[in-house]
Amino acid sequence: MSRLPKIPWYEITPEKVYLNRRQLMVGAGAMLSVAGLAACGMEAPAAPVAPAAAEGVAAPPTATPDTRDPVASATADELGDPLNSFEQITNYNNFYEFSTDKEDVAELAKNFPVSPWTVTVGGLVDKPGTYDMDDIRKMFDIEERIYRLRCVEAWSMVIPWQGFSLGKLLAAAGPKSEAKYVRFQTLHDPALMPGQTSAWYSWPYTEGLRLDEAMNELAILSTGLYGKDLLPQSGAPLRLVVPWKYGFKSIKSIVSIELVAEQPTSLWMDAAPNEYGFYANVNPAVDHPRWSQASERRIGESGRRETLPFNGYAEQVAALYDGMDLSKNF
Ligand code: MTE
Repeated sequence: MSRLPKIPWYEITPEKVYLNRRQLMVGAGAMLSVAGLAACGMEAPAAPVAPAAAEGVAAPPTATPDTRDPVASATADELGDPLNSFEQITNYNNFYEFSTDKEDVAELAKNFPVSPWTVTVGGLVDKPGTYDMDDIRKMFDIEERIYRLRCVEAWSMVIPWQGFSLGKLLAAAGPKSEAKYVRFQTLHDPALMPGQTSAWYSWPYTEGLRLDEAMNELAILSTGLYGKDLLPQSGAPLRLVVPWKYGFKSIKSIVSIELVAEQPTSLWMDAAPNEYGFYANVNPAVDHPRWSQASERRIGESGRRETLPFNGYAEQVAALYDGMDLSKNF
């Protein structure tokens, strides 16, 4: 936690983030080669999909478009790496419910209705409940977290999220002693999310965390980025962000959070168990069966950079895995 920015984002003069078109083009072009060989997608011969692939801030109304300019408290993360632009973050997305093509998601998801929206918190808890998104926004202090997002496909971005600690929501629900894991689920509605008609995946998208991982201060539920409400392509109205794990753990458009006794099986574990494990901690020492995880391409940069253990958050999370063989628990 010591390396996280300490100044609340709203106390800092808003700074417009301008699109550097040249950088965006370089980044997008460079990504083609990565997308051509890697994917969250499993390598099934007949698969019809392209290979992979502030504190106390008043919540804005969600039913009307958020026309505010993108703002962030800083221009770089705690390592000094510049933020990706709002345009980069919202135009290069993995959201298989809409498309397996990252550059099509924003357009295909633009009319996805994200209000009204309810989230059920249940399972092994003392206080189960179904909450309206507007109430969730009021229940928790929304703060900014600038995090790196490192996709299993070996690309990455730096994103100024708004959100709140997942641990606070779980603590409010009161986990029973038998609760050991948290299971998250995305909305299942093939009429609204046409990708869910694909028989290749076990919809709805499901993810999981061990309860102590979920309680770690770095794990957040995000409601926005760059000071604006999340757009559909980014997982509106509520998504998980677990910055030390590969991006696929950060499930979008959540409708259910359930405390369970047994380790949940995620959509990706079900699709390709030899490629996508439950833990999915960013680990440059353990390659994906089809590509190296030692380096990554930061969107907007032309070269590659070293991938950091736990995506640079080892100080905060490595102790969660003391005594575990992370090559087996990948
Ligand atoms: N959540 C759902 N419901 N569906 C998805 O396809 N893709 C995951 C994750 N969350 C995905 C999802 C993957 S593979 C990544 S890398 C991140 O979302 C990408 O988040 P971004 O599009 O905001 O960068």
